[in-house]
Amino acid sequence: MNAPRVLVVFAHPSLERSRVCARLLEAASAAPGVTIHDLYERYPHFGVDPEPEQALLDAHDILVFLHPVHWYSAPALLKQWIDVTLEHGWAYGAEGTHLRGKLWIHAVSAGAPASAYGPNGLNRIPLRALFAPFEATARLCGARYLAPFAIFGANSLNAAGIDAAAADIDALLRVLPRLGDRALEFGAADEFDLAGALATQVEA
Ligand SMILES: Cc1cc2nc3c(=O)[nH]c(=O)nc-3n(C[C@H](O)[C@H](O)[C@H](O)COP(=O)(O)O)c2cc1C
Repeated sequence: MNAPRVLVVFAHPSLERSRVCARLLEAASAAPGVTIHDLYERYPHFGVDPEPEQALLDAHDILVFLHPVHWYSAPALLKQWIDVTLEHGWAYGAEGTHLRGKLWIHAVSAGAPASAYGPNGLNRIPLRALFAPFEATARLCGARYLAPFAIFGANSLNAAGIDAAAADIDALLRVLPRLGDRALEFGAADEFDLAGALATQVEA
């Protein structure tokens, strides 16, 4: 059987000013067998063309949405991309089966620390709960949604912290295709359990 193919859908509205996601993108670009799709580079004026996007999705099995958390969600172009690309009769509805069975995960950087997303933190609401619209979208389309993998406290990271975050993204992209159905176990809680996934012996 062919190895599952990973598509990284990247969304950052000002990559030239990015400290963290730019580095995560670099790490993702170097990961073996991963296709990178930079939405703001491709569609700077938001004119998303559904046909090539759907072809790209058809050609991959694991969808990794890599982006900063902006206002408890994703940058606006990712929402526009979803609106335009996931058409009725293609992504959902009786004949809309193209995303069925694909894995869907967000890998994000968040300015706030992890504690801010805890019950007593500033935001109170866990990131997974804030991302409920993405989870519902994935479910409607029959994709298998995994808890987000987050780099918290992104704006306070020093160079070593950013390197560690990049290493985590590299590890995530390498391990996901090897997990098979077990990915769902590691994506079942509030956050994707990368350490657990890496500690598991999975088929090469
Ligand atoms: C418009 C905007 C909205 C933001 N909203 C949030 C937010 O809701 N939660 C959060 O933790 N950080 C938020 N941040 C901080 C970013 O997540 C953080 O700056 C980013 O992850 C750092 O990555 P970068 O260096 O690649 O931009 C926001 C930043 C911007 C510019």
